[in-house]
Amino acid sequence: MSDWSGLLAGKRAVVTAGGSGIGAEIARTLSAAGARVAVCDVNGDGFDTMEATGDAAFTAIADVSDFDQVAQFFGAATDALGGLDILVNNAGIAGPNGPLEEMDPAEWDRTIRVDLNSAFYCARQAIPHIVATGSGSIVNIASSAAFFGYPLRSPYAAAKWGLIGLTKTMAMELGPRGVRVNAICPGSVNGERIRRVMAAEADSRGIDIAEVETGYTRQVSLRSFVEKQDVANMVLFLVSPLGARISGQTLGVDGHTETLAQF
Ligand SMILES: NC(=O)c1ccc[n+]([C@@H]2O[C@H](COP(=O)([O-])OP(=O)(O)OC[C@H]3O[C@@H](n4cnc5c(N)ncnc54)[C@H](O)[C@@H]3O)[C@@H](O)[C@H]2O)c1
Repeated sequence: MSDWSGLLAGKRAVVTAGGSGIGAEIARTLSAAGARVAVCDVNGDGFDTMEATGDAAFTAIADVSDFDQVAQFFGAATDALGGLDILVNNAGIAGPNGPLEEMDPAEWDRTIRVDLNSAFYCARQAIPHIVATGSGSIVNIASSAAFFGYPLRSPYAAAKWGLIGLTKTMAMELGPRGVRVNAICPGSVNGERIRRVMAAEADSRGIDIAEVETGYTRQVSLRSFVEKQDVANMVLFLVSPLGARISGQTLGVDGHTETLAQF
C-alpha cells in the first residue's frame, strides 16, 4: 500500500459511531493520513485505546439519533479540533428483519432515526464549520441496500435510499460553497455485525447461517465480502485532494452487488 501520511495534514474530521467497526477503521485511516479526528459513539469501550494510539484526538459518548446529544457533541468536538473540514456520517444499525406487515413501528422509527435522521442532525451541526473552510467534504456511509429493494429489511433499505437523496441534495446546496458530498455503499463487510445480520436472517427465514452466507457471496460478482479497510480507503480518497472533483456520487465498495433478493 502507498504511503498516504500527510495527505490530510492540517485537516480536522468527525467520524460518527467511530468507537468500533467500520467507523473505527475510518478514524484510524484518516488519522494515519494526518487528520485530527473526533469520534462519537453510544459505546465508549474503545475510546481509551483510540486516544492512546492517536487514532482519535477527541472522543465522546453521543447517540446520533438524538439531536440535543449531536449538538452537544459537535460543540465540544469543534472546540477541541479548532474547526471542521470533514464529516463522515458512518452511524447506522441493521434494523429489524421480517415482513413489512409484521414490522414493529417502534423498530421502524428507530432504524430511520439512527440511519437517516442522524445524518441530517450531524450535517446540520457540521455545515457552518465546514463551509467556513471553503473546501470541506462530507461522506455518508449508505449500503448496497441503496441500489436495490431489500426483502425483509424494509426500514434499512428505506433509510439508506433516503441517505442517497440527502447526499445528492446536500451536494447541490453545498457545491457552490466549495463543499463536496458523496455516499459510499459498502457490501457485506467482514466482521461481527455481518455475523449478527446473517444470524437474524437465518432465523427469520428458518435456514442455516451457512446457507445465508453462501447466498450473500453469490450475490456479488467478485464472490467475496469486503474488508473495513476497503471502505476506509474510499473515504480517504473522497475527502482528500485525490477526490477534488468528485461530488454528488454514490460509490459502491462491494465487489459489485448483482441482487439482494434471495428468495
Ligand atoms: N457491516 C456491514 O456489513 C455493512 C454493510 C453495508 C453498510 N454498512 C454501514 O456501515 C456503517 C457502519 O457499520 P458497522 O458494521 O461498523 O456497524 P456496527 O454494528 O459494527 O456498529 C459500529 C458502531 O456504531 C455504534 N452505534 C450504534 N448506534 C449508534 C448511535 N445511535 N449513535 C452513535 N453510535 C452508534 C456502535 O456502538 C458501534 O461502536 C453503518 O452505517 C452500516 O449501515 C455496514
